[in-house]
Amino acid sequence: MTWSKEQHQEDPENKGVTPDAHPFFESSLLTDLAALPPGVIEIQDKYGVIYEASFVETSDVAEISAIVQRNFDEAPSYLNLTTEAREKYKAANTPEGILETSSDPDNVASLVVRDKDGQVVGYRVVRKGILRNDWRGFSAGSEVAEGKRMHIARGFDGRGLGTALLRLSEEIARDKGYEVMVVNASGDSYHFFIRAGYEVIAHEDNPILAAKGVKANRTYLGRQLTEDSR
Ligand SMILES: CC(C)(COP(=O)(O)OP(=O)(O)OC[C@H]1O[C@@H](n2cnc3c(N)ncnc32)[C@H](O)[C@@H]1OP(=O)(O)O)[C@@H](O)C(=O)NCCC(=O)NCCS
Repeated sequence: MTWSKEQHQEDPENKGVTPDAHPFFESSLLTDLAALPPGVIEIQDKYGVIYEASFVETSDVAEISAIVQRNFDEAPSYLNLTTEAREKYKAANTPEGILETSSDPDNVASLVVRDKDGQVVGYRVVRKGILRNDWRGFSAGSEVAEGKRMHIARGFDGRGLGTALLRLSEEIARDKGYEVMVVNASGDSYHFFIRAGYEVIAHEDNPILAAKGVKANRTYLGRQLTEDSR
């Protein structure tokens, strides 16, 4: 895949995917910018295996959806979800749902990760959000970066790839001027974010599902994106 702002905007397939600035130039996670096609960044798992992250394209959404659907059935984060909650989450992550989420004009970053064979193994979306509570000197209502999706394919989990992708998304948000990243972690996935330095702001019921009469626990967490949090 190659990247140019003009080509990206002209391509009808990329409708809504925000290419306003190349987010990767400033990233300290770049291993060797000169060796990479524009728009692709290398990230590594904790064993030093290299993967390529790039913007989500329309052609990726079916593969991403399959990973997310399988995660809702099999990932430890979701084992304690009720069947009803699991089905609601799966229904929101069809290829159409993925396309909608990934092409939201308020996206800060919508990233897909591939292994050396080009297979999709990771997915992360961050969008513009509003801080819901006063937290660490930031007032409720402040503009923050908000993690919307975070998925690693089964078989590639537990290798530090999720942490590497999380860090990349934080780096992009920081480069775009955000000082705080918040996440709404479904089920038990908040443990992953705590391991990555996030602080619990609130444990709650998912209000969107609660409005539909479905109970699903989620956790609101935050992390300050300071220079020394890199
Ligand atoms: C949660 C997820 C993104 C983590 O990615 P990953 O690549 O497996 O995570 P890492 O290997 O970077 O793990 C980092 C640490 O978090 C811990 N961790 C990861 N997922 C966890 C979970 N669900 N519960 C508890 N701890 C978890 C790991 O044990 C590891 O701990 P360590 O540093 O003590 O070894 C991934 O497993 C996944 O896609 N899960 C299903 C979807 C999901 O839960 N998304 C989260 C937001 S909705």
